[in-house]
Amino acid sequence: MARKKIIAGNWKMNMTPSEAVALVNTLKPLVANDDVDVLFCVPAIDIIPAMEAAKGSNIMIGAENMYFEEKGAYTGEISPAMLVDAGVKYVIIGHSERREYFAETDETVNKKVLKAFEHGITPIICCGETLTQREQGVTIDFIRQQIKIAFLSVSAAQAASAVIAYEPIWAIGTGKVATTEQAQEVCKAIRDCIAEIYDAATADAIRIQYGGSVSADSAPELFSQADIDGGLVGGASLKADFGKIVNYK
Ligand code: PGA
Repeated sequence: MARKKIIAGNWKMNMTPSEAVALVNTLKPLVANDDVDVLFCVPAIDIIPAMEAAKGSNIMIGAENMYFEEKGAYTGEISPAMLVDAGVKYVIIGHSERREYFAETDETVNKKVLKAFEHGITPIICCGETLTQREQGVTIDFIRQQIKIAFLSVSAAQAASAVIAYEPIWAIGTGKVATTEQAQEVCKAIRDCIAEIYDAATADAIRIQYGGSVSADSAPELFSQADIDGGLVGGASLKADFGKIVNYK
């Protein structure tokens, strides 16, 4: 099956609402490419203005996080219904920065993934090893564990529609992009793991992104690998470079 590439920006904690509108307007003509799904995952407060600014373009606006409860006394959190009401279709779940600074675990990731699906939002499920784990030779074991827990109780149909982002932590924001071989090896291992949990058709359908210092230079080779279906892009998604990444061919 030919999987459509999905190239997503992860703005992280950048861009005020007015800056967000300006950036969407700047990037709009540069990312006009219907061959790929183009997604900007933006801070919660930017979602509505960015959505307005993106109207009539191919840009989809997603969220960077979401809580796993429906509503109630969870000060500061964003509920799935709030995202749905704002028109959000994709949400990043379990980014390594959330795991590191906000105590997210494989278990909370699984809860959020299930809750996103319950509300018809597609999760972009992040996984990735530390430099130490890579040096210890446990990368694939570690990633398989993250994936297996993230997908607990997720149905095959849901899994087929999900997006996984493989982001080696040592490559995020460091300018140290994984080699094409390293990225492809792990993305393939992730697909094999999905085939083991579900079946070949589900593994064939699920989209797997690479993330970690993706640039206009590294994107063409990375995105042409058999098991890499696009990218999750941090730093370079805030610049005109993102247009080159989206038009990597
Ligand atoms: P980076 O971030 O492209 O700036 O390395 C990627 C990410 O954290 O999603």
